[in-house]
Amino acid sequence: MDARHVISTVRDGGCPSEDDLRAFADGLASGDVSDAQAGAFAMAVLLNGLGDEGRVALTRAMRDSGHTLSWDLPGPVLDKHSTGGVGDCVSLLLAPALAACGAYVPMISGRGLGHTGGTLDKLEACDGLRVQVSEDRLRRIVAEVGCAIVGATGEIAPADRRLYAVRDVTATVESIDLITASILSKKLAAGLDGLVLDVKCGSGAFLTKFAQAQALAQALTAAAQGAGCATRSLLTDMNQSLAPAAGNALELAVVLRVLDGQACASRLLEVTCALGGVLLTLGGLAASAEEGGSMVAASIADGRAADRFERMIVALGGAPDVMTAGLARLPEAPVVVEVPAPEDGTLTACDTRVLGWAVVQLGGGRMRETDRVDPAVGLSDLLPLGTSVVRGQPLARIHAARETDAARALSQVQKAFSTGSRYAPEPLVLQEVST
Ligand code: URA
Repeated sequence: MDARHVISTVRDGGCPSEDDLRAFADGLASGDVSDAQAGAFAMAVLLNGLGDEGRVALTRAMRDSGHTLSWDLPGPVLDKHSTGGVGDCVSLLLAPALAACGAYVPMISGRGLGHTGGTLDKLEACDGLRVQVSEDRLRRIVAEVGCAIVGATGEIAPADRRLYAVRDVTATVESIDLITASILSKKLAAGLDGLVLDVKCGSGAFLTKFAQAQALAQALTAAAQGAGCATRSLLTDMNQSLAPAAGNALELAVVLRVLDGQACASRLLEVTCALGGVLLTLGGLAASAEEGGSMVAASIADGRAADRFERMIVALGGAPDVMTAGLARLPEAPVVVEVPAPEDGTLTACDTRVLGWAVVQLGGGRMRETDRVDPAVGLSDLLPLGTSVVRGQPLARIHAARETDAARALSQVQKAFSTGSRYAPEPLVLQEVST
């Protein structure tokens, strides 16, 4: 394979053959394709696109650039992926709930990206827990517990790791073809029978406009199906934090309370049940998404999901009493302040991206790849849109490492909320995309 031929084909508006894309992906993984060639390829794809078939071919080629897992288990192997949001801790609830419903969930997850939180960072707020495990250990945990939320091993989709790093510094992240191949290559390498994609849309999402999110959902769904995995996408609202907290230990606390029946977090539960319902249907464990959603809700309500969660935490090296003593052990920030509403009225809108960046700047996310996250910081007690407030009433609580950080976040959070007289609620699940 001559990398120049692959690049010039895309540059001239064509699509390389599947064999050429495979050879290119293998070259990315082995280092035979140079950074300059990877950057030129990424820019050509961003400008001209690969078309539907090319997108599927690139997805398959990148999936197969490293190890792919296969399973021999007595239930379907299922997973979900979110395109990223604020207060989105669905994975921590959904993985154990699906396991309690008879599915097996090898959930290879990521860290925070930009203003959005990452599942691995949230899980690591648990004392002693390690998310980096070998493939063998992942297999054993999934077989014994039913679910494992872990980081990608070095062998999963190495072509993506290389291309993603190049895209990051060549202004070529924002390509639907490249995003699709990147997300799916990692997910599909886990050998899934079914996948549901939670494509976020709104002020806290990467794609704020409905039409953009819909185009991404269609591309992701079609490419995953084309690569042989039963897949659906839900477009869900990200115009406010999904959980009433944003920040690693603070979101984990919400999850522990929900699993323990102490809190309801209705928006978080609604999205969890909607995604889980679709997945259980794809896996043949439910006759309809409604039935599947009820099964997920029941597993959370009756403690079976909590039991799976606790077993997963122990298998990953965490303490065995997470459900009884985990909340008390979560790290706490030294400075906690309330954010007073600046005026009377109804909360009508939220610039959720501002909330996400406020958490990052408090230390709950990374400005640089090498930054360490502070698990204790973030926002809690976030009021939902539609709430009537009086001046001075707390809109949220800030958890900070220093008074100065808290003061900056206070002004950011105050400005993020808009107050008016009428709020027209939008549905939380905006659309299902099945092709
Ligand atoms: N997440 C990924 O894994 N890849 C992208 O390209 C964008 C988001």
